Amino acid sequence: EAAERGGFEHFMMKEIHEQPTAIKNTIGSLVSDKAIDLSKIELDDETIKNISNITIVACGSAWHVGMASQYVFEELSGIPVRVELASEFRYRGPILDKNTLVIVISQSGETADTLAALREAKERGVKTLAIVNVVGSSIAREADYVLYTLAGPEISVATTKAYSCQLVVTYLLALQFAFVRGKLEQKDYENYISEIERIPECIQKILDDKERIQWFASKIANSKDIFFIGRGIDYAIGLEGSLKMKEISYIHSEAYAAGELKHGTISLIEDGTLVIGILCQDNLYEKTISNMVECKSRGAFLMGLAPYGRYEIEDTADFVTYVPKMDKHFIGSLAVIPLQLLGYYVSVARGLDVDKPRNLAKSVTVE
Ligand code: G6P
Repeated sequence: EAAERGGFEHFMMKEIHEQPTAIKNTIGSLVSDKAIDLSKIELDDETIKNISNITIVACGSAWHVGMASQYVFEELSGIPVRVELASEFRYRGPILDKNTLVIVISQSGETADTLAALREAKERGVKTLAIVNVVGSSIAREADYVLYTLAGPEISVATTKAYSCQLVVTYLLALQFAFVRGKLEQKDYENYISEIERIPECIQKILDDKERIQWFASKIANSKDIFFIGRGIDYAIGLEGSLKMKEISYIHSEAYAAGELKHGTISLIEDGTLVIGILCQDNLYEKTISNMVECKSRGAFLMGLAPYGRYEIEDTADFVTYVPKMDKHFIGSLAVIPLQLLGYYVSVARGLDVDKPRNLAKSVTVE
Protein backbone atom coordinates (compact mmCIF):
# COMPACT_ATOMS: atom_id res chain seq x y z
CA GLU A 1 0.00 0.00 0.00
CA ALA A 2 2.90 2.37 0.77
CA ALA A 3 3.98 2.08 -2.87
CA GLU A 4 0.47 2.88 -4.06
CA ARG A 5 0.51 6.02 -1.94
CA GLY A 6 3.43 7.19 -4.05
CA GLY A 7 5.51 8.54 -1.19
CA PHE A 8 2.62 10.33 0.53
CA GLU A 9 1.52 9.42 4.03
CA HIS A 10 -2.12 9.13 2.98
CA PHE A 11 -4.10 8.60 -0.22
CA MET A 12 -5.93 11.86 0.42
CA MET A 13 -2.71 13.89 0.22
CA LYS A 14 -1.62 11.97 -2.86
CA GLU A 15 -4.97 12.68 -4.50
CA ILE A 16 -4.85 16.35 -3.52
CA HIS A 17 -1.51 16.52 -5.35
CA GLU A 18 -2.86 14.70 -8.37
CA GLN A 19 -5.37 17.46 -9.01
CA PRO A 20 -3.34 19.54 -11.48
CA THR A 21 -2.77 16.49 -13.69
CA ALA A 22 -6.28 15.10 -13.29
CA ILE A 23 -7.82 18.44 -14.23
CA LYS A 24 -5.44 18.86 -17.16
CA ASN A 25 -6.38 15.44 -18.49
CA THR A 26 -10.08 16.14 -18.03
CA ILE A 27 -9.83 19.45 -19.87
CA GLY A 28 -7.72 17.80 -22.58
CA SER A 29 -10.43 15.21 -23.19
CA LEU A 30 -12.96 17.91 -24.06
CA VAL A 31 -10.97 20.83 -25.44
CA SER A 32 -8.73 21.19 -28.44
CA ASP A 33 -7.55 24.39 -30.12
CA LYS A 34 -9.61 26.64 -27.86
CA ALA A 35 -12.87 24.85 -28.63
CA ILE A 36 -14.99 22.45 -26.60
CA ASP A 37 -16.02 19.32 -28.45
CA LEU A 38 -19.18 17.57 -27.27
CA SER A 39 -19.68 15.68 -30.52
CA LYS A 40 -18.19 12.52 -28.97
CA ILE A 41 -21.16 12.29 -26.65
CA GLU A 42 -23.53 13.22 -29.47
CA LEU A 43 -24.92 16.23 -27.68
CA ASP A 44 -25.76 18.28 -30.75
CA ASP A 45 -26.31 22.02 -30.99
CA GLU A 46 -30.02 21.65 -31.67
CA THR A 47 -30.53 19.80 -28.39
CA ILE A 48 -28.47 22.39 -26.51
CA LYS A 49 -30.51 25.24 -28.01
CA ASN A 50 -33.76 23.62 -26.92
CA ILE A 51 -32.90 23.20 -23.24
CA SER A 52 -35.36 25.27 -21.23
CA ASN A 53 -34.03 24.49 -17.75
CA ILE A 54 -31.48 22.31 -16.01
CA THR A 55 -31.87 20.23 -12.87
CA ILE A 56 -28.63 19.04 -11.30
CA VAL A 57 -28.98 16.00 -9.04
CA ALA A 58 -26.27 14.48 -6.84
CA CYS A 59 -25.18 13.57 -3.31
CA GLY A 60 -22.41 14.77 -1.01
CA SER A 61 -19.50 16.57 -2.63
CA ALA A 62 -20.98 16.00 -6.08
CA TRP A 63 -24.02 17.99 -4.90
CA HIS A 64 -21.62 20.76 -3.87
CA VAL A 65 -20.32 20.77 -7.43
CA GLY A 66 -23.91 21.34 -8.52
CA MET A 67 -24.28 24.16 -5.99
CA ALA A 68 -21.17 25.94 -7.32
CA SER A 69 -21.87 25.33 -10.98
CA GLN A 70 -25.42 26.66 -10.89
CA TYR A 71 -24.00 30.19 -10.74
CA VAL A 72 -21.75 29.49 -13.71
CA PHE A 73 -24.51 27.89 -15.81
CA GLU A 74 -26.99 30.66 -15.10
CA GLU A 75 -24.60 33.57 -15.57
CA LEU A 76 -22.95 32.30 -18.72
CA SER A 77 -25.73 30.45 -20.51
CA GLY A 78 -28.84 32.13 -19.09
CA ILE A 79 -30.50 28.75 -18.55
CA PRO A 80 -32.36 28.49 -15.21
CA VAL A 81 -30.81 25.84 -12.95
CA ARG A 82 -32.11 23.98 -9.96
CA VAL A 83 -29.85 21.86 -7.77
CA GLU A 84 -31.33 18.91 -5.91
CA LEU A 85 -30.14 16.32 -3.45
CA ALA A 86 -30.76 12.97 -5.13
CA SER A 87 -32.39 11.58 -1.98
CA GLU A 88 -34.94 14.41 -2.09
CA PHE A 89 -35.46 14.57 -5.85
CA ARG A 90 -36.62 10.98 -6.14
CA TYR A 91 -39.50 11.40 -3.69
CA ARG A 92 -40.58 14.90 -4.56
CA GLY A 93 -42.42 14.35 -7.82
CA PRO A 94 -40.23 16.98 -9.48
CA ILE A 95 -41.73 19.16 -12.17
CA LEU A 96 -39.86 18.45 -15.39
CA ASP A 97 -40.76 19.27 -18.96
CA LYS A 98 -39.59 17.75 -22.20
CA ASN A 99 -36.89 20.39 -22.56
CA THR A 100 -35.48 19.92 -19.07
CA LEU A 101 -31.96 18.54 -18.99
CA VAL A 102 -31.23 16.51 -15.87
CA ILE A 103 -27.52 16.44 -15.05
CA VAL A 104 -26.43 13.81 -12.53
CA ILE A 105 -22.97 14.04 -11.01
CA SER A 106 -21.26 11.06 -9.37
CA GLN A 107 -17.69 9.95 -8.84
CA SER A 108 -18.51 6.26 -8.42
CA GLY A 109 -21.49 6.14 -10.74
CA GLU A 110 -23.08 3.76 -8.24
CA THR A 111 -24.61 5.95 -5.52
CA ALA A 112 -28.05 4.45 -4.93
CA ASP A 113 -29.96 7.72 -4.56
CA THR A 114 -28.32 9.30 -7.60
CA LEU A 115 -28.96 6.22 -9.72
CA ALA A 116 -32.60 6.16 -8.62
CA ALA A 117 -32.94 9.86 -9.47
CA LEU A 118 -31.48 9.21 -12.92
CA ARG A 119 -33.99 6.40 -13.49
CA GLU A 120 -36.84 8.60 -12.32
CA ALA A 121 -35.82 11.30 -14.81
CA LYS A 122 -35.54 8.77 -17.63
CA GLU A 123 -38.94 7.30 -16.85
CA ARG A 124 -40.36 10.79 -17.14
CA GLY A 125 -38.91 11.03 -20.65
CA VAL A 126 -36.40 13.74 -19.83
CA LYS A 127 -32.90 13.92 -21.35
CA THR A 128 -30.18 12.95 -18.90
CA LEU A 129 -26.49 13.76 -18.85
CA ALA A 130 -24.10 12.17 -16.36
CA ILE A 131 -20.72 13.43 -15.17
CA VAL A 132 -19.01 10.30 -13.88
CA ASN A 133 -15.52 9.14 -12.95
CA VAL A 134 -15.88 5.37 -13.16
CA VAL A 135 -16.12 4.03 -16.71
CA GLY A 136 -18.80 1.40 -17.16
CA SER A 137 -20.55 2.22 -13.86
CA SER A 138 -24.33 1.96 -13.63
CA ILE A 139 -24.92 5.70 -13.99
CA ALA A 140 -22.52 5.88 -16.95
CA ARG A 141 -24.36 3.02 -18.65
CA GLU A 142 -27.85 4.35 -18.12
CA ALA A 143 -27.58 8.09 -18.81
CA ASP A 144 -28.32 9.40 -22.32
CA TYR A 145 -25.08 11.39 -22.44
CA VAL A 146 -21.92 10.78 -20.39
CA LEU A 147 -18.99 13.04 -19.73
CA TYR A 148 -16.11 11.44 -17.89
CA THR A 149 -13.88 13.05 -15.33
CA LEU A 150 -10.38 11.70 -15.82
CA ALA A 151 -9.45 11.76 -12.14
CA GLY A 152 -8.30 8.13 -12.11
CA PRO A 153 -9.11 5.85 -9.16
CA GLU A 154 -9.89 7.72 -5.96
CA ILE A 155 -9.16 5.73 -2.79
CA SER A 156 -9.55 8.24 0.02
CA VAL A 157 -13.15 8.37 1.26
CA ALA A 158 -12.99 12.16 1.31
CA THR A 159 -13.08 13.15 -2.34
CA THR A 160 -10.72 15.79 -3.68
CA LYS A 161 -9.57 15.17 -7.25
CA ALA A 162 -12.91 13.80 -8.45
CA TYR A 163 -14.70 16.83 -7.02
CA SER A 164 -12.26 19.19 -8.75
CA CYS A 165 -12.59 17.43 -12.09
CA GLN A 166 -16.38 17.45 -11.85
CA LEU A 167 -16.31 21.18 -11.27
CA VAL A 168 -14.18 21.75 -14.36
CA VAL A 169 -16.50 19.62 -16.51
CA THR A 170 -19.45 21.77 -15.42
CA TYR A 171 -17.53 24.92 -16.43
CA LEU A 172 -16.88 23.53 -19.91
CA LEU A 173 -20.48 22.45 -20.28
CA ALA A 174 -21.78 25.85 -19.17
CA LEU A 175 -19.40 27.57 -21.56
CA GLN A 176 -20.40 25.41 -24.49
CA PHE A 177 -24.11 25.89 -23.77
CA ALA A 178 -23.53 29.66 -23.61
CA PHE A 179 -21.60 29.68 -26.89
CA VAL A 180 -24.05 27.50 -28.83
CA ARG A 181 -26.96 29.61 -27.57
CA GLY A 182 -25.30 32.80 -28.82
CA LYS A 183 -24.57 34.24 -25.38
CA LEU A 184 -20.83 34.55 -25.93
CA GLU A 185 -18.66 36.07 -28.63
CA GLN A 186 -15.94 33.82 -30.05
CA LYS A 187 -13.27 35.96 -28.35
CA ASP A 188 -14.87 35.71 -24.89
CA TYR A 189 -15.44 31.99 -25.35
CA GLU A 190 -11.77 31.46 -26.12
CA ASN A 191 -10.67 33.69 -23.25
CA TYR A 192 -12.79 31.70 -20.82
CA ILE A 193 -11.28 28.46 -22.11
CA SER A 194 -7.77 29.88 -21.63
CA GLU A 195 -8.70 30.85 -18.09
CA ILE A 196 -9.92 27.31 -17.34
CA GLU A 197 -6.68 25.97 -18.79
CA ARG A 198 -4.76 27.99 -16.15
CA ILE A 199 -6.45 26.12 -13.26
CA PRO A 200 -3.89 23.26 -12.99
CA GLU A 201 -0.83 25.55 -12.73
CA CYS A 202 -2.61 27.82 -10.23
CA ILE A 203 -3.51 24.80 -8.06
CA GLN A 204 0.13 23.73 -8.20
CA LYS A 205 1.16 27.15 -6.84
CA ILE A 206 -1.23 26.71 -3.89
CA LEU A 207 0.12 23.21 -3.22
CA ASP A 208 3.69 24.53 -3.24
CA ASP A 209 2.74 26.75 -0.28
CA LYS A 210 0.92 24.11 1.75
CA GLU A 211 3.13 24.36 4.87
CA ARG A 212 1.40 27.61 5.79
CA ILE A 213 -1.92 25.76 6.01
CA GLN A 214 -0.25 22.96 7.95
CA TRP A 215 0.98 25.49 10.51
CA PHE A 216 -2.47 27.05 10.87
CA ALA A 217 -4.12 23.60 11.11
CA SER A 218 -1.95 22.74 14.10
CA LYS A 219 -3.19 25.89 15.85
CA ILE A 220 -6.88 25.19 15.31
CA ALA A 221 -6.90 21.39 15.60
CA ASN A 222 -8.74 21.51 18.92
CA SER A 223 -11.63 23.66 17.74
CA LYS A 224 -15.07 22.62 18.91
CA ASP A 225 -17.00 24.23 16.06
CA ILE A 226 -15.95 25.79 12.76
CA PHE A 227 -18.11 27.99 10.56
CA PHE A 228 -17.43 28.61 6.88
CA ILE A 229 -19.06 31.70 5.43
CA GLY A 230 -19.24 33.17 1.95
CA ARG A 231 -21.63 34.41 -0.67
CA GLY A 232 -22.45 33.08 -4.14
CA ILE A 233 -19.86 30.61 -5.40
CA ASP A 234 -17.85 31.25 -2.23
CA TYR A 235 -20.78 29.86 -0.24
CA ALA A 236 -20.83 26.71 -2.37
CA ILE A 237 -17.07 26.29 -1.82
CA GLY A 238 -17.65 26.74 1.90
CA LEU A 239 -20.10 23.82 1.82
CA GLU A 240 -17.35 21.60 0.46
CA GLY A 241 -14.71 22.99 2.85
CA SER A 242 -17.03 22.31 5.76
CA LEU A 243 -17.78 18.77 4.62
CA LYS A 244 -14.06 18.00 4.25
CA MET A 245 -13.47 19.32 7.75
CA LYS A 246 -16.25 17.43 9.50
CA GLU A 247 -15.89 14.11 7.69
CA ILE A 248 -12.21 13.58 8.47
CA SER A 249 -11.55 15.69 11.58
CA TYR A 250 -14.87 15.00 13.40
CA ILE A 251 -15.08 18.67 14.34
CA HIS A 252 -18.57 20.06 14.08
CA SER A 253 -18.63 22.48 11.19
CA GLU A 254 -21.20 24.23 9.07
CA ALA A 255 -21.22 26.41 6.01
CA TYR A 256 -23.46 29.42 5.88
CA ALA A 257 -24.38 31.93 3.28
CA ALA A 258 -22.73 34.88 5.03
CA GLY A 259 -25.87 37.01 4.97
CA GLU A 260 -27.86 34.31 6.79
CA LEU A 261 -25.68 34.33 9.90
CA LYS A 262 -27.71 37.05 11.50
CA HIS A 263 -30.85 34.93 11.27
CA GLY A 264 -29.71 32.47 13.88
CA THR A 265 -26.23 31.05 13.64
CA ILE A 266 -24.47 34.10 14.97
CA SER A 267 -25.81 33.17 18.41
CA LEU A 268 -23.39 30.21 18.33
CA ILE A 269 -20.31 32.42 18.08
CA GLU A 270 -18.34 32.44 21.31
CA ASP A 271 -14.92 33.61 22.33
CA GLY A 272 -12.42 31.87 20.04
CA THR A 273 -14.92 30.19 17.66
CA LEU A 274 -13.19 29.78 14.29
CA VAL A 275 -14.97 31.46 11.39
CA ILE A 276 -13.50 31.02 7.92
CA GLY A 277 -14.53 33.71 5.47
CA ILE A 278 -14.21 32.92 1.77
CA LEU A 279 -13.72 36.15 -0.16
CA CYS A 280 -13.02 35.21 -3.76
CA GLN A 281 -16.02 36.88 -5.40
CA ASP A 282 -14.93 40.44 -6.03
CA ASN A 283 -18.38 42.05 -5.92
CA LEU A 284 -19.22 40.34 -2.60
CA TYR A 285 -15.88 40.91 -0.87
CA GLU A 286 -16.92 43.89 1.28
CA LYS A 287 -20.22 42.27 2.20
CA THR A 288 -18.59 39.12 3.52
CA ILE A 289 -15.93 41.14 5.36
CA SER A 290 -18.67 43.00 7.18
CA ASN A 291 -20.16 39.65 8.25
CA MET A 292 -16.72 38.58 9.47
CA VAL A 293 -16.43 41.80 11.49
CA GLU A 294 -19.80 41.02 13.10
CA CYS A 295 -18.42 37.62 14.13
CA LYS A 296 -15.19 39.13 15.41
CA SER A 297 -17.04 41.58 17.62
CA ARG A 298 -18.62 38.54 19.28
CA GLY A 299 -15.25 36.96 19.92
CA ALA A 300 -14.65 34.89 16.76
CA PHE A 301 -11.17 33.94 15.60
CA LEU A 302 -11.05 34.70 11.89
CA MET A 303 -9.42 33.08 8.90
CA GLY A 304 -9.76 34.78 5.51
CA LEU A 305 -9.35 33.17 2.09
CA ALA A 306 -8.87 35.71 -0.69
CA PRO A 307 -7.16 36.26 -4.04
CA TYR A 308 -3.67 37.78 -4.05
CA GLY A 309 -3.94 41.54 -4.14
CA ARG A 310 -6.93 41.80 -1.80
CA TYR A 311 -4.75 42.45 1.24
CA GLU A 312 -7.29 44.64 3.10
CA ILE A 313 -8.56 41.46 4.72
CA GLU A 314 -5.44 41.45 6.90
CA ASP A 315 -6.93 44.36 8.89
CA THR A 316 -9.77 42.07 9.95
CA ALA A 317 -8.67 38.43 9.89
CA ASP A 318 -6.25 36.74 12.30
CA PHE A 319 -4.88 34.48 9.57
CA VAL A 320 -5.14 34.88 5.81
CA THR A 321 -4.34 32.56 2.97
CA TYR A 322 -4.28 33.65 -0.66
CA VAL A 323 -5.00 32.00 -3.99
CA PRO A 324 -3.97 33.22 -7.46
CA LYS A 325 -6.33 35.65 -9.18
CA MET A 326 -8.75 34.10 -11.63
CA ASP A 327 -12.04 34.86 -13.36
CA LYS A 328 -14.84 34.84 -10.77
CA HIS A 329 -16.66 31.90 -12.36
CA PHE A 330 -13.73 29.54 -11.97
CA ILE A 331 -11.83 30.79 -8.90
CA GLY A 332 -13.79 28.36 -6.71
CA SER A 333 -11.53 25.64 -8.15
CA LEU A 334 -8.63 27.41 -6.45
CA ALA A 335 -10.41 28.42 -3.24
CA VAL A 336 -11.31 24.83 -2.40
CA ILE A 337 -7.67 23.68 -2.34
CA PRO A 338 -6.57 25.39 0.93
CA LEU A 339 -9.78 24.06 2.51
CA GLN A 340 -8.99 20.48 1.44
CA LEU A 341 -5.51 20.93 2.90
CA LEU A 342 -6.91 22.37 6.11
CA GLY A 343 -9.25 19.42 6.63
CA TYR A 344 -6.41 17.03 5.90
CA TYR A 345 -3.90 18.63 8.25
CA VAL A 346 -6.41 18.99 11.08
CA SER A 347 -7.27 15.30 10.75
CA VAL A 348 -3.57 14.37 10.85
CA ALA A 349 -2.93 16.69 13.82
CA ARG A 350 -5.75 14.93 15.69
CA GLY A 351 -4.23 11.54 14.90
CA LEU A 352 -7.27 10.29 12.99
CA ASP A 353 -7.64 7.79 10.16
CA VAL A 354 -7.63 10.31 7.31
CA ASP A 355 -8.36 7.93 4.46
CA LYS A 356 -11.01 5.85 6.23
CA PRO A 357 -13.06 8.07 8.52
CA ARG A 358 -15.48 6.35 10.87
CA ASN A 359 -19.03 5.56 9.71
CA LEU A 360 -18.42 6.67 6.11
CA ALA A 361 -18.15 4.74 2.87
CA LYS A 362 -16.54 5.77 -0.40
CA SER A 363 -19.61 4.80 -2.33
CA VAL A 364 -23.07 4.51 -0.78
CA THR A 365 -24.98 1.86 -2.69
CA VAL A 366 -27.85 1.59 -0.22
CA GLU A 367 -30.59 4.12 0.37
C1 G6P B 1 -20.14 9.30 -0.30
C2 G6P B 1 -18.71 9.81 -0.33
C3 G6P B 1 -18.68 11.29 -0.75
C4 G6P B 1 -19.38 11.46 -2.09
C5 G6P B 1 -20.80 10.91 -2.04
C6 G6P B 1 -21.39 10.82 -3.44
O1 G6P B 1 -20.82 9.87 0.77
O2 G6P B 1 -18.11 9.67 0.94
O3 G6P B 1 -17.34 11.72 -0.86
O4 G6P B 1 -19.41 12.81 -2.42
O5 G6P B 1 -20.82 9.58 -1.53
O6 G6P B 1 -20.66 9.85 -4.15
P1 G6P B 1 -20.58 9.78 -5.71
O7 G6P B 1 -19.78 8.52 -6.00
O8 G6P B 1 -21.99 9.65 -6.22
O9 G6P B 1 -19.92 11.01 -6.20
